[in-house]
Amino acid sequence: MSHFDLLLRQCQLLQSSNVCELVDVAIHSGEIVEIAPHLDATAELELEIQARLVSPPFVESHIHLDSALTAGEPRWNQSGTLFEGIEIWRERKQNLSLEDVKQRAIETLKQQAMQGVLFVRSHADVSEASLTALKALLEVREAVKDWITLQVVAFPQDGIYGGAKNDALMEEAMKLGADVVGGIPHYELTREDGVRSVHRIFELAQKYDRLIDIHCDEIDDDQSRFLEVVAACAIRSEMGSRVTASHTTAFGSYNNAYALKLLGFLKRTQLNFIANPLINITLQGRTDTYPKRRGVTRVKELWQQGMNVSLGHDCVQDPWYSLGTGNMLDVASMAIHVCQMTGRDEMNACFDMVTWNGAKTLNLNEYGVEVGKPANLIVLDAIDRYDAIRRRATVQSVISQGKLLAQTEPPKTKWRGS
Ligand code: FE2
Repeated sequence: MSHFDLLLRQCQLLQSSNVCELVDVAIHSGEIVEIAPHLDATAELELEIQARLVSPPFVESHIHLDSALTAGEPRWNQSGTLFEGIEIWRERKQNLSLEDVKQRAIETLKQQAMQGVLFVRSHADVSEASLTALKALLEVREAVKDWITLQVVAFPQDGIYGGAKNDALMEEAMKLGADVVGGIPHYELTREDGVRSVHRIFELAQKYDRLIDIHCDEIDDDQSRFLEVVAACAIRSEMGSRVTASHTTAFGSYNNAYALKLLGFLKRTQLNFIANPLINITLQGRTDTYPKRRGVTRVKELWQQGMNVSLGHDCVQDPWYSLGTGNMLDVASMAIHVCQMTGRDEMNACFDMVTWNGAKTLNLNEYGVEVGKPANLIVLDAIDRYDAIRRRATVQSVISQGKLLAQTEPPKTKWRGS
C-alpha cells in the first residue's frame, strides 16, 4: 500500500472550467502524485474533504503591496478620486523605509494566503530615486517564496517622462530584477509622452526579457486611448500573451463605434486584461453627476470575445481604497454586479477570472491540480463555483507546495429564536 505525505479524501475537484469530479488526491514531496476516485493508501496526514470544492489557488493579478495598509496616513482621501490618492501617496512615500514596506507587504501576503491566494503580482512604485518600494518588494519576493509566489512590476507612478530621472529609474529597476515592466500612459504629462512611454515599455521588456503590465486608461476620459497603442505594439512585436492592460476603465466610456473597431484589433493581440471592480466602482465616475458611469472596462464583452480577463483587488487599505481584506471572492462578486455578469456561466467565468485566467495573465506554467504539478490547492466550504462566490465561502484549507499552510473554520451560528 502506498504511503504519502498528504491525502485529501473525497474532494469535489475543479480540474478546469466545467470539469468537476469526486476524487482522492495524494501529495508527496511537494507534488500531486495521484488522483483517483478512491486511493488505497495511507499518509502522514489525511484530510476528510467531504465533497467540498477543491480548486487551484486564487491568483491576485493586480495589487499594490507597497502602499497596502496605509489608509489614513497622513490623511484620508476625501474626494475619493485617483488623483487625490496619488497626492496622498506622494506625501506618504516620503517616509518609506525598507522595513516599513516589507512589514506591511508580508502582513498583506499572509492575509491573502490565509484566504487561498498563492500567486500574486504586485506593482512597486519606482518614481523615487531611492527605489525603496521596489527593493523592499524584491526582498519580500525572496522571503516568502517557500509559501507564495510573488511577481514584482516596476511601476512608474509619476510617469516615465514625468520627471528628469524617471526613465533612468525604470531601467535601474530592470537591472535590480523586477519581473515586469509597468507604465501609466494616461498620467504622462502629454498624450505624446503617453504614446512614447508605451513604446519605451516594450523596448525595455524586449531588452531585459520581461513581461509587461501597463496601468492603461484608468480614467473616465473617453479620449484616453492608449489601449490602441498597446494593441499596436503587441501586434507588431508578437508579444501579446506576455502583455497585460490593467484597468482600461476608459473602454467603458468609449462610443460603441470606436469600441467595436478596437475590439477587432484586440482580438488579434492575445493581450491579457485585468479589471479591478472593487476599486474602480468607487474611484471612477466621481466627476459625473447623473447618469453616473460604472467606471469598469468591458469585461463581459472581452470575455465573450474569448480574450483573457482576470480580476484584481488593486488596493487593500491604502490612499485609493480604504477597504478590502484581500479576499478574491469579494472581487469576483463585485465583478458579477458591476459588469452585470449574472448568468450562471457568467458567474462561473468570474470565478475563473480569479483562478485560471489570473494564472494565464501571470504566465504561470505549472498551475492547476493535476498529477505531476506542484501541490498548490485550496479547499472551499462550498459545493461549486457559484456557491463559493454567493456565500463568499470560507477557504478551509490552503496547501502550498505540498504543505498545509493555513486552516480556517467556517463560522457557525446557533439559532436561538423560536
Ligand atoms: Fe493599480
